[in-house]
Amino acid sequence: LAAPITITRETFRACRPGSWAGIPSDCCPPKVIDGPIVDFRPKYDASKPLRVRKALQCLSGHELQTYLRKLEKGYVLMRALPDSDPRSFKRQNAIHCAYGTGSFLQDGSTNLTIDVHLNWLFLPWHRMFVYFHERILQKLLGDPEFSLHFWNFDNSVTATPRHGSRGCYKAGHFVPPMYNDPSKATFEANRSFMTFEPNRPWTCRSTSRKEFHFQRPSLRSPTVPSRNKRAGTEKSCTAVGAGTIELVPHNTLHAWIGGWMLQPITAPIDPLFYPFHANMERLWSVWRKLGYGNDDPTDPDWLNATFLFWDENSVMRRVRVRDFLDLNALGYRYEKVNDASWIFFD
Ligand code: C2O
Repeated sequence: LAAPITITRETFRACRPGSWAGIPSDCCPPKVIDGPIVDFRPKYDASKPLRVRKALQCLSGHELQTYLRKLEKGYVLMRALPDSDPRSFKRQNAIHCAYGTGSFLQDGSTNLTIDVHLNWLFLPWHRMFVYFHERILQKLLGDPEFSLHFWNFDNSVTATPRHGSRGCYKAGHFVPPMYNDPSKATFEANRSFMTFEPNRPWTCRSTSRKEFHFQRPSLRSPTVPSRNKRAGTEKSCTAVGAGTIELVPHNTLHAWIGGWMLQPITAPIDPLFYPFHANMERLWSVWRKLGYGNDDPTDPDWLNATFLFWDENSVMRRVRVRDFLDLNALGYRYEKVNDASWIFFD
């Protein structure tokens, strides 16, 4: 079988209902897929300032109100798109579902499926997914500078802010209030009761871990491929290829949020998925900077893995992992927060 994983028009056409943990899924893209497929090649433009994805818990006052108004409007517009529109809220969930429930077959195979979870595709694929979601919001809002923010869920700093942290020292262990307010388009009622308890941070109420732990060793290998989980070699969806950053906090936090977020068939129906995953990929960058030899794989099977996404103009884009490693080229960065707290826990 061919490696790396390569998604083509034919992959989409051959999509079939999949399943996750025994739950059937039916989220294939429309069978008629024509129109051009355009290669996506980001290019660093030094003349353009990088957009900044900010920490949600640090927003307040006017800045918070402005952001909230835009975000809400974006979701109202996105939900109003017809289901047939690949940019619609519903179809975006469907694409994550198809990539995450074995609905796509590996190139040249009649039984080996593709999953973007529990293996080295996890971090880059989700970065792409959030990236195109953001571009669609920008387009709907008519604001190319609009940036998603991140839920800084790993931030447990309650001590004095350090110099330069812009007052960003509030703990991020709660669902950001704008996502927990029933009057907002960013709200979702289908979440576990724990997420609605105002004084209980998730670290203490996690269903699977008593304590939030990001230990160094677990961050050392977020994308390390397992020998058994490369393109074309394995069918099953075991955790054998997952980096620990995917298992904890990613999977445990999905479970703690509950509701739609419990499983990949429905997770992005909850708008919280997006700031949550923004933080996941931010942590990938943080991990890379920690030293200890942390670095991305250089295996061409990883670098050249290729996926298809619809962009903000409903044009199909061919996207490679190697193009999603440099945030500068993608035109954004993350606000610097005081995120060192967990690094020294063991
Ligand atoms: Cu595709 Cu947080 O999952």
